[in-house]
Amino acid sequence: MQITVTQAPENQKRRKPKSGEKLGFGNYFSDHMFLMDYASGKGWGNARIVPYGPLSLAPSAMVLHYGQEIFEGMKAYLARDGAVCLFRPDRNAERLNRSAARMCLPEIPVEDQLTALRALVRLDREWIPREKGASLYIRPTMIATEAGLGVRPAAEVLFFIITGPVGAYYARGFEPVRILVEETYLRAARGGTGEAKTGANYAASLLAAKNAKAIGFDQVLWLDAEHRRFAEEVGTMNIFFVLRGELVTPPLSGSILPGVTRDTVLTLAREWKIPVAERPVEIDEVLKGAADGTLSEAFGSGTAAVISPVGSFSYGGKEVQVNRGGTGELSLRFYREITGIQYGEIEDRHRWIHRVE
Ligand SMILES: Cc1ncc(COP(=O)(O)O)c(C=O)c1O
Repeated sequence: MQITVTQAPENQKRRKPKSGEKLGFGNYFSDHMFLMDYASGKGWGNARIVPYGPLSLAPSAMVLHYGQEIFEGMKAYLARDGAVCLFRPDRNAERLNRSAARMCLPEIPVEDQLTALRALVRLDREWIPREKGASLYIRPTMIATEAGLGVRPAAEVLFFIITGPVGAYYARGFEPVRILVEETYLRAARGGTGEAKTGANYAASLLAAKNAKAIGFDQVLWLDAEHRRFAEEVGTMNIFFVLRGELVTPPLSGSILPGVTRDTVLTLAREWKIPVAERPVEIDEVLKGAADGTLSEAFGSGTAAVISPVGSFSYGGKEVQVNRGGTGELSLRFYREITGIQYGEIEDRHRWIHRVE
């Protein structure tokens, strides 16, 4: 794949946040973006890096009406030795292609996605924050750009990648989250689009999250659509429970996102000889376990926080604490190991790190 590069002129470069400035998440975007066009019959072409800026779209572009869209989320880190590293980007690229297949969008060879990522991150490497725990968030996105109002897969598509510096998730140390088990709304049913990373799933989740926040909760735990009994996932994270010493997480049954961090946690747990089960987990088992102590820990896993300990679950108007609302030992061990590998402090025995030379 040939990429043409148009660099942002010096006087049009964007304002970089100063060292020590609060970055938060998704507030800043770096100087350049990668774009590539698809037309049915022609395939992908015109791969280019240009200054970050607005896109030009017809108001009838199909994505705006029928939500034919997918995206990914990953990070570039500055390792201790100064190397720029991506964490398992091949996994994100493969997932993008699975999402594409589900949403009738064209796939992009994994190698081409990695080439684009590397070229963009290399060019904007000065945007990677140096503070420990901070990183450059990377957002590959694909949208249906064909102008027309027929409900059918679009014949014209745009793929783009934007990046931007994000702050350390735990600037003040681990803070276990309060989780509301969602009883009214559902995120996804088997056979739906739950396992694809598509905007519609997130749009469908907004109201439940907004209502939960309004009454003091951090996130919602989704239940399965068929029985409304089994735990699925949390906001933008997969969910893990430590039940009687066993690490348990819901199986990839089609309605939850197959998280890259989820796979990383499972791989490490198996190596550490921790008993692991991917099985349906009833919400009753979680609540009873939290009350009688057989649930010793619960945590979410995802790119943004890596590991997010759960302090309590609330269901049917009753809130039960997990591990007295504190951070569990295993949560901390996974967090330290994964971030240690990402920042080049712990040996990368799995070849999860891709260096951007
Ligand atoms: C709905 C949902 N579940 C789980 C995850 C965790 O996935 P990953 O570990 O690949 O970030 C995410 C984040 O991308 C998500 O949006």
